[in-house]
Amino acid sequence: MDSKKQFLNPEFSPAFVDSPYVTQLCKITAGLYQHGWDERNGGNVSYRLLPEEVASYSGVHDVKRNLPIAFDASALKGQLYLVTGTGRYFKNVKDFPERDAGLVRIAEDGHSVDLLWGFNDGGQPTSEFPAHLMTHIQRQKQDANQRVVMHCHPTNLIAMSFTLPLESKLFSRLLWKMQAESVVVFPEGIGVIPYMTPGTNEIGQATAEAMADYRLVLWPQHGIFGAGDSMDETFGLIETAEKAALIYSTIQAQGGKFVNEITDQNLKDLCARFDITPNQDFIDGDSLIK
Ligand code: 13P
Ligand code: ZN
Repeated sequence: MDSKKQFLNPEFSPAFVDSPYVTQLCKITAGLYQHGWDERNGGNVSYRLLPEEVASYSGVHDVKRNLPIAFDASALKGQLYLVTGTGRYFKNVKDFPERDAGLVRIAEDGHSVDLLWGFNDGGQPTSEFPAHLMTHIQRQKQDANQRVVMHCHPTNLIAMSFTLPLESKLFSRLLWKMQAESVVVFPEGIGVIPYMTPGTNEIGQATAEAMADYRLVLWPQHGIFGAGDSMDETFGLIETAEKAALIYSTIQAQGGKFVNEITDQNLKDLCARFDITPNQDFIDGDSLIK
């Protein structure tokens, strides 16, 4: 058989579980667990795949189940999402990807998804799937290459949400000033929404609204949502913000008094050097040195 026929013959198609997409999901969920940001079933990831990216794999061509979703996702009809399951432990995804994750296609009417692969013990997408899909809708308006939404529970960012006023400008400037890389990685800042009940359409709507202006949205007393073009980019956003929050926590443990700081002018110089436009509403403000 020539190689083209072999490629088209399902007997010779590689299994989707061996695709780079599932491999990336396994690596990223294991990495999030290793960081201590996804205890038990904490956290969830969704990854938009293009039909041509999955077409050559076996095991993804028929509908295994149809699962209802509780809001109108028709803006995403026909799109494919590799998504982690509700109640699944990130420490386990790498060993049981076909059980703890699934590939779903948004149905035509937008009120259900067709399961094409995975969740093989009867599982379902994450309880935060509405917030993920609402975020995908919003971010695709800003960026045609939008692919990944990632939610996790990073310790220091959550801790800051207990001790500081819940204001986007205040959080953005503090995180920018904790290390030189922050303003370069997230020049728009970070959005902060009020505390809301997880797993609801309401928190999804508030998150998606904030995602019009930010790729990082803090869920106070809970965790963070990140969005981006790739797994690495989205993970990198979250780990940069969390590293800044760790530095802030360490400063507080050292007594919390600022003697030196990255000034507003330092931030502007960084942006000029890396040809970046920071959020103009946030770039000027109070010094950390009192
Ligand atoms: P799921 O197990 O439904 O993904 O929920 C975890 C979580 O972090 C909720 O915010
Ligand atoms: Zn959570």
